Amino acid sequence: MNDSYLNFVNSPFGARLARSLGLPKPEVLRRYRADRPEFDGIVAIGAGREPHLLDALATLVGGIGVTSVAHASAGLWVPLANRHGLMTGRFEAADSGSSSKLAALLFDASGIEDSSQLEPLHAFFHDTLRSLGKCGRIVVLGRPPQTCVNPRQWTAQRALEGFTRSLGKEARRGITANLVYVEPGAESGMEATLRFFLSPRSAYVSGQVVHIAAQVGDETGGEMDGETGGKTGSKASSTFDWAQPLAGLRAVVTGAARGIGGSIASVLAAEGAHVIGIDIPSARDALDATMRQLDGTALAFDIAAPEAPAQIAAALDEQGVDIVVHNAGITKDKTIAKMTEAAWQSVIDINLSAQERIDDALLAGGILRDGGRIIGVSSISGIAGNLGQTNYATSKAGVIGRVQSMAPHLRARGITINAVAPGFIETQMTAKIPLAIREAGRRMNSMSQGGQPVDVAQTIAWLAHPGSAGVSGQIVRVCGQSLIGA
Ligand SMILES: NC(=O)c1ccc[n+]([C@@H]2O[C@H](COP(=O)([O-])OP(=O)(O)OC[C@H]3O[C@@H](n4cnc5c(N)ncnc54)[C@H](O)[C@@H]3O)[C@@H](O)[C@H]2O)c1
Repeated sequence: MNDSYLNFVNSPFGARLARSLGLPKPEVLRRYRADRPEFDGIVAIGAGREPHLLDALATLVGGIGVTSVAHASAGLWVPLANRHGLMTGRFEAADSGSSSKLAALLFDASGIEDSSQLEPLHAFFHDTLRSLGKCGRIVVLGRPPQTCVNPRQWTAQRALEGFTRSLGKEARRGITANLVYVEPGAESGMEATLRFFLSPRSAYVSGQVVHIAAQVGDETGGEMDGETGGKTGSKASSTFDWAQPLAGLRAVVTGAARGIGGSIASVLAAEGAHVIGIDIPSARDALDATMRQLDGTALAFDIAAPEAPAQIAAALDEQGVDIVVHNAGITKDKTIAKMTEAAWQSVIDINLSAQERIDDALLAGGILRDGGRIIGVSSISGIAGNLGQTNYATSKAGVIGRVQSMAPHLRARGITINAVAPGFIETQMTAKIPLAIREAGRRMNSMSQGGQPVDVAQTIAWLAHPGSAGVSGQIVRVCGQSLIGA
């Protein structure tokens, strides 16, 4: 759907009017385009005491080929960057607010062990934030509090969450701010995640906290798990084809005929996957058209039909599948007193129970291969609840429970399970929402606008990436840092 307000306030006349009336002016977000460089500009590096992740950051900065500048808090960066052969310089306080805009701010807080050591966060962002350009990126790196050895360290690392989320709310201008906790030993598995958060692909993902766990064999670059025969551990970053990371993989996407599902299918195909799209028989024409464009395979099944899991398993059995995206979903909104049993049951069945049955069939038969990915589509309604959506919010909260409960069981096979929780995304589903509520949904977030289906699709592509093996059991909101459920 078209966001007429965003278009208007970004026209010359609209921008002047918005300025004179003091109206909010949502930024036109910079999204990924294959014909534009994904990474460019200058990245400023800051750090707290004894940063542990600078070496891994140097690999990343070298890999994406950008210039860096070191803030005074990150004195170690310059010699390290020189050793890695990177173009680097020093951030001068005089640059603050100047027209030479930075593209990203990266802060390594991993060595902070006590609340009294948090001040470098203030110093770095105080000096650099005004130099960050429109749609710039902020990433703070820390250690997962649960892995900290004492309460002081746990406290200081947990504090990073409040800091990063507040930055996301302050920065505006299409800037995102996210926190990545890297477990000790998971350093070699952080590149895919950092690339995502630095890229225009994460245009509508802000205020999120992601935890990267160490994999069996992380120190060795991956080794065979004797019990399951599955490959575990993160591959060295240099072994990924960053342009076509999903080449040779097969991905099944439910609800692929239109909306977010159609976009997921095209992004996964653009990254090299063979996509098998599933949708209800009445959407067959749209599904066929989408799959034809992508050279994919169309399967017209109602996922909630009792025979669907066996049919899907049979269709995928011969070649197996690597990525399963449970996107199909419906709403049947009514307050609980007015909700029919059928409206309750169909929403729970399509949005939640069908996924459980399909996963069971694919996992039991070994059709979902070791090292595979399961990605659910939850919703901020599943986090915060929503008036008139007891059925929908129950189903979407259930998706979160499924992710959290299944992740430990799938770990031995190297299979990750995660979910995205979209906020307000411009699709036919949200076009049905009454205008006043729709406008509130669009504006009540740090980006002051709704997201696009491609924002959800790109987040799913990151979770599907072979380099995201350390990301499991997590819920990533694609909501522009919505105030709802924040
Ligand atoms: N649009 C948003 O703002 C938003 C926000 C949060 C979550 N979501 C979730 O994202 C997902 C996609 O939403 P959308 O906005 O693209 O919706 P949509 O209605 O545009 O598309 C949903 C697709 O799922 C298919 N589908 C429905 N029931 C099915 C079944 N039984 N078997 C097979 N396919 C079936 C539909 O035919 C359709 O193609 C849903 O799970 C939705 O709950 C959307």
